[in-house]
Amino acid sequence: MDRNKVICRCFNVTAGAIEDVIKSGAKTFEEVQAKTSCSTGCGCCEPDVRELIKQLVK
Ligand code: FES
Repeated sequence: MDRNKVICRCFNVTAGAIEDVIKSGAKTFEEVQAKTSCSTGCGCCEPDVRELIKQLVK
């Protein structure tokens, strides 16, 4: 995974930032949203955020 890849352009949230909040306990889309602000703007990154969560939450 490229940690520097920007997943959410509205809030400049990278894959690494999402990975970090998942490592520190976030498990759902809503929790990741609350901790990073990702996907709280235009919402067009939602499928990518959900896909990443699916890959990272074990
Ligand atoms: S790109 Fe994530 S909310 Fe717009």
